[in-house]
Amino acid sequence: MASLTETLNEKAAQVEAVLKKYLPKEDKYNSVVVDAMNYSLLAGGKRIRPVLMKEVYRLLGGNSLDTIEPFMAAIEMIHTYSLVHDDLPAMDNDEYRRGRKTTHVVYGPGMATLAGDGLLNFAFETALKSFLCADKLSDYDGEISDRRVYALKILAGKAGVYGMVGGQCADIEAEGKTSATEEELIYIHENKTAAMLESSMMIGAILAGADSKRVNEIEQAARKIGVAFQIQDDILDIIGNQDELGKPIGSDEKNEKTTYVSLNGLERSKEDVKKLSEEAIDILKDIEGSSEFLLPLVEWMISRNK
Ligand code: IPE
Ligand code: IPE
Ligand code: MG
Ligand code: MG
Ligand code: MG
Repeated sequence: MASLTETLNEKAAQVEAVLKKYLPKEDKYNSVVVDAMNYSLLAGGKRIRPVLMKEVYRLLGGNSLDTIEPFMAAIEMIHTYSLVHDDLPAMDNDEYRRGRKTTHVVYGPGMATLAGDGLLNFAFETALKSFLCADKLSDYDGEISDRRVYALKILAGKAGVYGMVGGQCADIEAEGKTSATEEELIYIHENKTAAMLESSMMIGAILAGADSKRVNEIEQAARKIGVAFQIQDDILDIIGNQDELGKPIGSDEKNEKTTYVSLNGLERSKEDVKKLSEEAIDILKDIEGSSEFLLPLVEWMISRNK
């Protein structure tokens, strides 16, 4: 039987093929920015968000690739834009990402800023392609009955000021602050990181035909997975290895970031990653088939070193 990492690599390769299908094309005068967008998008990465989206979609009975794939590509584009901007000299000022020089090192900060903007916008141009699919979806029992429209609302909202951008704002505000509280830190982790995992898993569920009760459960589980994922990222920034991570270690200390580890120490951080992951698994284990890949993937996230 294939190991979890083999299966994950296989699924990441499938995501890569989906991304290639939806890549922006260059024309005469925009070629540099399009090049920079594709440079960051195709630099590798674990592709965990589209993989989670697709797996939740599959487990909950979704079977229309033309419906889900544009959203898979879109979430990875938004995530990649967030990394390109996160690495900029005005933010974390990091030189390596996904095992390569960061976009601003190769293309300059102006072009990297535009590449991020281009990816964010192109994500929505791409997600809208799902609406061209003729496959009919059942009505959703939540605030918006059209499932594709609701998925688009989640995609937009979770990436914005009430989601990832809000979290990045608080992350910068907490730099150099010795008085940051646990409450601020939880806000940072839930928003800068968990929101995008919530988006990924909720969109999978919404498009698969799940009801609002299930979608809410998925959101709760994804929030725990997301916070655990960021705590692990904070841990790896200290005890990780640049070759494996593909990005520098010590970035948080350099920027005097408030992280889970700086606030709670390494041991408590490790315990909390485990605890949150177990709580997420407890919510997800009722989903038929989840023990094949979804639950092992959540477990892998605890012990990951990349
Ligand atoms: C890095 O995300 C930024 C965080 C939210 C911790 P990933 O660890 O998923 O990065 P890639 O996509 O694999 O490069
Ligand atoms: C950033 O958190 C999360 C984003 C929204 C991009 P970090 O700044 O810790 O992410 P890395 O360590 O650079 O990947
Ligand atoms: Mg950062
Ligand atoms: Mg960073
Ligand atoms: Mg980090």
